[in-house]
This record gives sequence, C-alpha cells and structure tokens, in this order.
Amino acid sequence: MSSAVLCAPVTDSAPATSAPAAGAVPLLPVVGADTLVPLVAGGTARYVDLDTAASSRALESVAARVAEALPLYASVHRGAGYLSQVSTALYEDARATVAGFVGARADDVCVLVRHTTDALNLLAGCVPDGGAVLVLDCEHHADLLPWQQRGPVTVLPTAPTVVETLRALGAELVAARYALVAVTGASNVTGEALPLDEVVQLAHAAGARVLVDGAQLVPHRRFSLAASGADYVAFSGHKTHAPFGSGALVGRRDWLDAAPAYLAGGGAVQEVTVEETSWAAAPHRHEGGSPNVLGAVALAAACEALAALPAGALADHERALRERLVAGLGALPGVRVLRIWADSAEPTGVVSFTVAGADPGLVAAYLSAEHGIGVRDGRFCAHPLLARLGVPAGALRASVGVGCTLDDVDRLLTALDAFLSAGPQVAYARVEGRWQPADDPRAAELAAAVRGAGCGPAER
Ligand SMILES: Cc1ncc(COP(=O)(O)O)c(C=O)c1O
Repeated sequence: MSSAVLCAPVTDSAPATSAPAAGAVPLLPVVGADTLVPLVAGGTARYVDLDTAASSRALESVAARVAEALPLYASVHRGAGYLSQVSTALYEDARATVAGFVGARADDVCVLVRHTTDALNLLAGCVPDGGAVLVLDCEHHADLLPWQQRGPVTVLPTAPTVVETLRALGAELVAARYALVAVTGASNVTGEALPLDEVVQLAHAAGARVLVDGAQLVPHRRFSLAASGADYVAFSGHKTHAPFGSGALVGRRDWLDAAPAYLAGGGAVQEVTVEETSWAAAPHRHEGGSPNVLGAVALAAACEALAALPAGALADHERALRERLVAGLGALPGVRVLRIWADSAEPTGVVSFTVAGADPGLVAAYLSAEHGIGVRDGRFCAHPLLARLGVPAGALRASVGVGCTLDDVDRLLTALDAFLSAGPQVAYARVEGRWQPADDPRAAELAAAVRGAGCGPAER
C-alpha cells in the first residue's frame, strides 16, 4: 500500500510549537488507551479500538467523577439521610446537565433510561393512540422494532440520493397523517444522515413530531433540540464514553405526562391505594424502581467533557480520521465503502466496507487475532439497510471517536493490506457461527482477563 495514502502531508513551514494535526493525538483521554492484548502468534499489541459505534471507552474524567461519587452513594429520592440527599442532588443535577447538553427547551423532560433502545420503547408507549409513525428503512432496529411492535408504522424506502429521499418523505407526509417521524441522527452503518432541519420542516408542516435517534449523533456532534426544532432525542451513555448503564430520552412533556408509566413501580407514583394509583408526572412517571445514580453521574460527566471541547474540535478530529480511513480503504483492491446516499454531507466517523471474496467475520477475526484491532462485522442491527445496500450477508465496520488517532487508522489499513497481499497467517474455523483461530493459544489469557487479571499496560 502506498504510504502516501497513510501519511498526512508534511510541510516545512509548520512552527515547532504548533498544535498537533487533527487526529494525531486523542482529543480526550480514555481509560485503557494503552491496554495490551495477546496476539495469536505470540506477543502483544496495543489494542486498537475501532468499534466505538458499538460502545465507547470511558473518558478518564468520567471514571474520576464516578470514583468521587462512590463514597457519597446512598438511596435516592426516598432517604432522609444526609448522603441520600447528596445522592438525590447528584442524580437530579445530572439530569439537568444531560438535558442541557442536548439543548432541551425549558418545558422539555429528560427521562433517564438504560440506553437508546429503552428510550425508544418508552416513547413508543407515549405516542397517542392510533397515531401513525413514519420511519426510513435505514434505521437501526432500535428505531424500527418498537414502532413495528406498536403499529401503525410506515417504513419508507431510502432513495439513492438525499434529495430524492427528502422528496419521498415530503410526499408521504402529505399523502397520509403521521404523529411522529423517527429518524436517525447518524447511521450506525455509514455515519450519514438526512439534513435534520429539512426533516423537521417537512414533518412539522404536516403536523408530525420528530424523534431523533441520537445514538450515533449525540456523542459525535453538537446537537440541540431547541436549535434543530426536533421534538425528542434518545441516546446511550455507553456510546458517549460513560459505560455505566444510563441513557436518556429528552423532549416534549405532554405525551410523556399523558402516557401509562413505562416502568410501573416505586418512585413513579403520587398515591397508591389497593384500588387505584395516581401517577407522578414525567420524568418520574417513567422511572419506576431505584434510579441508576452512578450511571446518571457518569453520563453527565461525559456530557460536560464533550461540551467543554472547543467548537468544531470533535468534528475536525473525526473528519481527519474518517478521511484517512476512507482514502486508505479506497486504495485497497476489492474494498468497497458503503454509502446510503450519493449526496450526503459530513458523515460521522462510522465507515462500513466489504472486502471482495472475504467473509467479513473472517476478516474481523484476523484483525483481532493477528493485529489486536477491534472492529465490528455482521449486519449491525440494520438488516433492512444492509439488504438495500446489496450486502445481505454483512460487512465490516470501523468507527472512531475522541480516543482514536490516525495511528489507529493506519494500523487497520496496514493490517488489511497484509490480509489482501499475504492472507491470514494462521488457520481459522467457524465455531458456533463465529470465525476464530483454529488453534487459539489466547484462551488462557482471555480467561485470566475475565478473572480480573486484566491486560497489561503498553510499554511506552
Ligand atoms: C443508531 C443506533 N440507534 C440505536 C442503537 C441502540 O443503542 P443501545 O444498544 O445503546 O440501546 C444503536 C446501537 O448500536 C445505534 O447505533
């Protein structure tokens, strides 16, 4: 592979003290960035995490905030003890921070949930009875199945261009009445999205609300409900560098206040008799059971860290990584980068691709076993989209975030180049549907890692 593809141009004129080029160093420190993993041929390599779209490592600031909060942890909302009051304040402060991070309007509600899937199932129970939902066929299953299960739902085929897709969306919104349009903020397969302001305009003109599946958007781009005009946003803490079991649904109060409690139980009520229950208003109405205080604290810490980045820094960082990745993949023979739309703008750092003649699962196993690189393979919980893109058997996906660098991208490109020129260096077999080295000596190390021995820090 040509090194010109992998190396940023060097100029003589850059002053010695200038800031590193976008993507050269992590934008924010993540926990475990130096973790070594065993290789199948022996030895170790620094783990390259290019699967941040699935789950992203905790920011160091998030881990530190959780460690600070742990000694203060006590029961929430119901305890009279001092630490109960502190924990309750931590939880409610976190809620306010999360709401602020996504630009909630004054009368919006922030329900703290487990993750995006939870948020979308919650909202599915809040759309007024009979109200139809409109989605595109490029959605993650989390933004498809709750609507299918609830019904009625229309799944609109994505057209080959953004312009045609918007035209079809507009026509459908005129042809039939919808309560809600549920769109991805950024595809978990390609990082692309429709222009949100235009979707909001079309939907609102037709009397429909807009839900943004923000799972792949909120951790990567500034997003604001107030500025975009969208009515709801859902996102996950574990994709926002806060893997402590928390997520959020933020948006208009009326549907959330009128709907049945999502999780009936303690904390969601005002008064209970054996005959009847008077439910609390949102958000508590939907948060039955003991709240996840540390999850909320972690999520708020991640929101604060991302919000404190200089405007545009995150987008610049991820753009630099994506451009290097897409250019490098394009230079490899037989590699096809997937796109939904020919004319989409500014995709996030999620890139899916196929390698001609190679099973994606085998390539992913090779990258892990021989190079210590983590990517995703399969159909990414987006079966209708993968079928539409002509890859019903699946693809590979590399995704970047604040903790990734150009060096990580180059490690992937070099490993793929070696795969194409020399093939895998050990034999692989399918075991229970997954490819893995036929004879894998790493099993003992994996067992040790599971027992808590961990993986060693990289030598510097
Ligand atoms: C676009 C999109 N929406 C929803 C989800 C579901 O997120 P979670 O698994 O955190 O509920 C994902 C997860 O990958 C996603 O990428």
